Amino acid sequence: TQSLPSLWGIPLKYLSLVTLAVQNSALTIIMHYSRVSTPPSRTYSAATAVLMNEILKGTISLLIAFARIESPSAYEVGQVSHISQRSLVNRLSVRLRKLSKEIFSQDCWKLSIPAILYVIQNNLQYVAASNLEAATFQVTYQMKILTTAAFSVLLLRKKLSTAQWISLLFLAIGVGIVQIQSGVDKSASVAPSTNVVAHSMNPMKGFLAVFAACFTSGLAGVYFEMVLKNSQADLWVRNVQLSLFSLLPALAPIIFDQQSNGAQIGKSLTSSLFENFGAWAWATVWVQVLGGLVTAMVIKYSDNILKGFATSLSIVISFLASVALFNFQMTITFVLGSVIVLIATWLYNQHPARINLAINKDSWM
Ligand code: C5P
Repeated sequence: TQSLPSLWGIPLKYLSLVTLAVQNSALTIIMHYSRVSTPPSRTYSAATAVLMNEILKGTISLLIAFARIESPSAYEVGQVSHISQRSLVNRLSVRLRKLSKEIFSQDCWKLSIPAILYVIQNNLQYVAASNLEAATFQVTYQMKILTTAAFSVLLLRKKLSTAQWISLLFLAIGVGIVQIQSGVDKSASVAPSTNVVAHSMNPMKGFLAVFAACFTSGLAGVYFEMVLKNSQADLWVRNVQLSLFSLLPALAPIIFDQQSNGAQIGKSLTSSLFENFGAWAWATVWVQVLGGLVTAMVIKYSDNILKGFATSLSIVISFLASVALFNFQMTITFVLGSVIVLIATWLYNQHPARINLAINKDSWM
């Protein structure tokens, strides 16, 4: 952590954390709005959105990974063709071969585990966003910080100081206090959408989806961190591998759905895939793509637990946005909860977590 990579003089660690906090607030609001602003018969397919997210994220990661591949030496180019040693085509083909060798590396299978978990999680998020108020969803989803801490201690043997455990406890308390506010005051919903169209929500279904998503979030995030920090492979190559392994599980519900519904009605695959897929659906997908890319950077340059704190800050951002946009009334409980979240974040950062990488050569990896 001595020579932190930076952009415009700002360390990527902090830039990515702040971007993630803003992205998270935007996603919660946009996703909820995109799901409940239309009658159920006209909602878009969440499975298509998850698939699009992976395709777009994978493509962007592939382009970045390609750009980062070192220019081949004259010797390497010469190996491809002795006739025109310096031709652009040869240089490109050497770079492509280098990249594909990195992507289809011996240990690429390791990414299949977080890939499957994330696809499940990304689908669960749509279930939760469709059945809970945006604020309730966002705050309850913060419980992933605790699952992440538990998996970090279990799998990465991360040692948390007493101060860090206390800050986690305070974080949970702060989140709880904010939740009391959203429970008492129904107008606390950060999305105005529920007033637009009467959309029946099933909170029980929503809560179960959030709890399951907290579990996959903790496990997948920590597993990705472990794979990333245990090898020399480039972050963007790892992202491509993650997206590639996501394609099959992301396609599975679409194929299943097409077989049970689409085929009967006689619609083509693309028209049923993108039915009702309007501007809000695309906005949700793009904000999620940004989130995926930034999440990966946060995991690389910080760690998963710190990522959780960044998303907690997003609660504060969402509420401030709803004050500005939707005339949301701020109460003393909200201010108290938010201040506790902020203090907990500061406290956690005073004592950086340590990873015992030596243990990760364990047999199960
Ligand atoms: O809620 P949580 O922070 O666990 O969400 C992580 C999100 O980031 C998921 O949607 C996942 O698909 C995405 N992600 C990604 N690439 C990574 C790590 C996570 O796209 N390398």
